[in-house]
Amino acid sequence: MRKVTVVGAGNVGATCASVLAHKDIVKEVVLVDIVGNLARGKALDMWQQAPIDNYSTFLQGSDNYEDTAGSDIVVITAGVPRKPGMSRDDLISTNAKIVNLVTESILKHSENPIIIVVSNPLDVMTLAAYRTSKLDSSRVFGMAGILDTARYRAFLAEALQISPKDIQAMLLGGHGDTMVPLPRYTTVSGIPVTELLDRATIDKIAERTKVGGGELVQLMGTSAWYAPGAAAAQMVESIVRDEHRIFPCCVLLNGQYGLNDIFLGVPVKLGKNGIEQIIELKLQPDEMKMLQESAGHVRQVIEVYNGMAL
Ligand code: APR
Repeated sequence: MRKVTVVGAGNVGATCASVLAHKDIVKEVVLVDIVGNLARGKALDMWQQAPIDNYSTFLQGSDNYEDTAGSDIVVITAGVPRKPGMSRDDLISTNAKIVNLVTESILKHSENPIIIVVSNPLDVMTLAAYRTSKLDSSRVFGMAGILDTARYRAFLAEALQISPKDIQAMLLGGHGDTMVPLPRYTTVSGIPVTELLDRATIDKIAERTKVGGGELVQLMGTSAWYAPGAAAAQMVESIVRDEHRIFPCCVLLNGQYGLNDIFLGVPVKLGKNGIEQIIELKLQPDEMKMLQESAGHVRQVIEVYNGMAL
């Protein structure tokens, strides 16, 4: 795989392109934005960073989709971010139009790309890209779970005074306040976290994780970008290197977890063909109930999307 397009040269898109270039795993990253000079300027700046940071990945900015021709992977970050007081769902009317337009434009120049959606509300924007692209569902999925688990892992590392590198965690559900952290599947170098922290502390961290994005919106007046951009780049890496890493990603469920026709965060195996396996965990009744509630919330946003005149 040689070419990755990142659509949206704003905070998340530019960070994703930069992290990706630093990984030095693809020949070219094309950064596309409706504001062409923003994309051109940021890509040029990142290319001028290459001799300093030792990468060969060429970066090009553009507002012309012809420049994206033959992309193997496309990351969609175009759209508006949250402002304080907004939920991700409030972005739907603006971002649905943008995501559909971007997907159509991409497909005119790349035949069978893998599309990773980052724009919010994530679960429904991924569905929108899937429907518009008509690609196989193994090739259209969303980035949320890596970010949400990273937040969870960072908070746990802080509480335990240990390196976040040693924390493994899994989390299910929609990318919103109804996401489902799973302490039962959270370990510290193989040790269940439940043996190292008391229940009340874990619960508090899980609650902070659920509103982790909102905490940053409050602090900065807009939503986060360093961890989201890096999370999307990590998904690209697993695909490009065909690593078969296991990440929570937003994917189309067809019967798994008793759910159908919905994009939701679950553990998957990510390789050169995109989603190569969906892993079905044996959930306990309370975990399953939380997942169903999360799915119910996402379905409400899907209804809004279905009712929109696009
Ligand atoms: N085509 C291409 N780019 C577009 C389009 C479009 N139709 N519409 C908007 N954009 C670009 C904007 O010009 C802007 O540069 O998308 C970029 C978005 O960047 P930011 O405003 O900095 O937003 P960011 O923080 O990057 O978030 C983007 O990702 O995490 C989600 O909720 C977040 O939906 C939001 C998205």
